[in-house]
Amino acid sequence: MMDDLPMNHSLANEHHWSPLPDDWQADVDRVDLFAIDLTQPPILIPEAMSLLDEVERQRVERFKSPKRQREFVIGRAVLRMLLGSVLRIDPQAVRFEHSPQGKPFLLNDPVHFNVSHSHDMVLLGVSLDTPLGVDIERVVERDQYLKLAKRFFAPGEYDAMIALPAEQHLAAFHAIWTRKEAFVKATAKGIALGLDQFQVNADPLTPAKLEIPHPQIPDKWSLCDLPIANDNYRACLCVATDSPQYRCWQMGPN
Ligand SMILES: CC(C)(COP(=O)(O)OP(=O)(O)OC[C@H]1O[C@@H](n2cnc3c(N)ncnc32)[C@H](O)[C@@H]1OP(=O)(O)O)[C@@H](O)C(=O)NCCC(=O)NCCS
Repeated sequence: MMDDLPMNHSLANEHHWSPLPDDWQADVDRVDLFAIDLTQPPILIPEAMSLLDEVERQRVERFKSPKRQREFVIGRAVLRMLLGSVLRIDPQAVRFEHSPQGKPFLLNDPVHFNVSHSHDMVLLGVSLDTPLGVDIERVVERDQYLKLAKRFFAPGEYDAMIALPAEQHLAAFHAIWTRKEAFVKATAKGIALGLDQFQVNADPLTPAKLEIPHPQIPDKWSLCDLPIANDNYRACLCVATDSPQYRCWQMGPN
């Protein structure tokens, strides 16, 4: 699917997922994105658990599904390692706070980040200067996904999706979904923002775009579809700038 995409933010920026170099450092004016395939994680569960704090460990115990435990433990541990590297502190010393809607952030530190999980993938974004949101979703035929779209999407998004050829509906659904989720996550408001209160483009083959801004969030936001190597996933980045720059890193086993 991604091979068919025309030039968009990601391809124009020549983004492909490179192995993360040992000497990686965050850069100003550029988001670093990290993809983790949980079937080949960069860190094993016991080591990852040792990086978490007590609150996080209690959270792990409360997750009912082993899959949710694994994605949280690996994702959070890698996030701690990356933020520790940026802040030049031990990963265990990173202290998270949470916005009223649940977005983790660093108190007293301007480093921005966001996390998304789906099935066997975790996507992380880190920026020194720009609020951001990321979303990744596995492309699967969901029960009644058109009804979901009708219920949650803006009317204009639903109409634009339905106007596409039927074989593109599933891809359009996931394109709209990831674009909207990346936006509501970037703003930190989550779905409380009202998913039908703003509009993204529906066509999965054209670059992501915020077509109608949210009336309460007038700032400049940019969406970028991300070229996930595995065609079974769709992902999007949202950043609070009109000239998004980013790099993509693949994190594999050590
Ligand atoms: C929580 C929410 C922000 C994202 O949920 P999601 O898409 O299911 O989950 P993701 O894996 O993409 O993101 C979860 C991560 O986002 C972060 N997060 C939590 N609340 C957040 C918020 N308000 N803003 C930004 N990020 C948030 C956390 O880091 C969390 O990971 P962690 O628990 O490992 O720390 C929210 O938008 C939500 O509840 N979505 C439900 C999905 C839905 O119904 N979509 C309808 C489209 S049809």
